[in-house]
Amino acid sequence: MSASPSSQSVPSLRDRLRADTREAHEALDASFAGMFADATGTRYARFIAMNRAAHAAIDPVLAASPLAGLKDEEAPADRLDAAHRDALALGLAPAPPVRFPLPGPDLFEAFGIAYVLEGSRLGAKYMLRAIKIDQRTDDVRWPTDYLEASSDARPFTRLLDRMAAERADEPAIRRAVEAADVTFRFFRSLCGDDDKRTTRA
Ligand code: HEM
Repeated sequence: MSASPSSQSVPSLRDRLRADTREAHEALDASFAGMFADATGTRYARFIAMNRAAHAAIDPVLAASPLAGLKDEEAPADRLDAAHRDALALGLAPAPPVRFPLPGPDLFEAFGIAYVLEGSRLGAKYMLRAIKIDQRTDDVRWPTDYLEASSDARPFTRLLDRMAAERADEPAIRRAVEAADVTFRFFRSLCGDDDKRTTRA
C-alpha cells in the first residue's frame, strides 16, 4: 500500500535537521578543507583534538539527558577513548575541559545534539578512505582509532528510529534544530588554528 500524499510531503525531524543545519555542516567542513592533502598531519591533529574535546564535553550531557540508555543497547566502541588514543599517538598535549553551552537538554534538544554527534559517523568512512596511503592496503598515514570507532553507523540509525517514534510539533522541531546548530557551532569553536588544545606536546 502506498503512503498518502500528505504523509509523503511531511518532512521528518531528520529531514529538517539536515536541511536547516546544512550551512553549519558546510562551515565546519570548510574549516578542515585540505586536511587530507596536508602531509604534515597538522590539520588532522586539529580534527582529532576537536573531537576529543567535543566528546568529553557532550557525552556526559547526553548520558544525563532523556536520551540516556540509547548508547548502551549495542555498546559500540567508545569514540572518546578512541580520540584519546589517537591524540596520544599524535603527541597532542592533554586538553583542559570545556563546557558545552546546553548542559540540561530536553528530549528534542537532545535529539538535535545527538544528531550532530551521531551523524558525523556518516562522514567517517569517506575520511578513512582518504587517509589510506593506498586503497588496496590497510596502511594509513595517521592513527585512525577515532574514525574507525566512528564508522559504525548503527547508533545513527537507532537515533533516527527513536526520533521517528516521537511526535514532533513545530516548536519541538525548532528546539531540536537550534540545539543542533549550537552543537555545530561548539565543534567549530574547538577547531581553531591557534587553539592551545591542539598544541603538540
Ligand atoms: C572534514 C570533515 C567532514 C567531512 C569531510 C564530512 C563529510 C560528510 C559526508 C560525506 C556526509 C554524508 C554521508 C552520507 O550521506 O553517506 C556527512 C554527513 C554528516 N556529517 Fe559530516 N563531515 C565532516 C565533519 C563532520 C563533523 C565534525 C560533524 C559533527 C560535528 C559532522 C556531522 C555530520 C552530520 C550530522 C551528517 C548527517 C547529515 C544527514 O542527516 O544526512 N560532519 N558528513
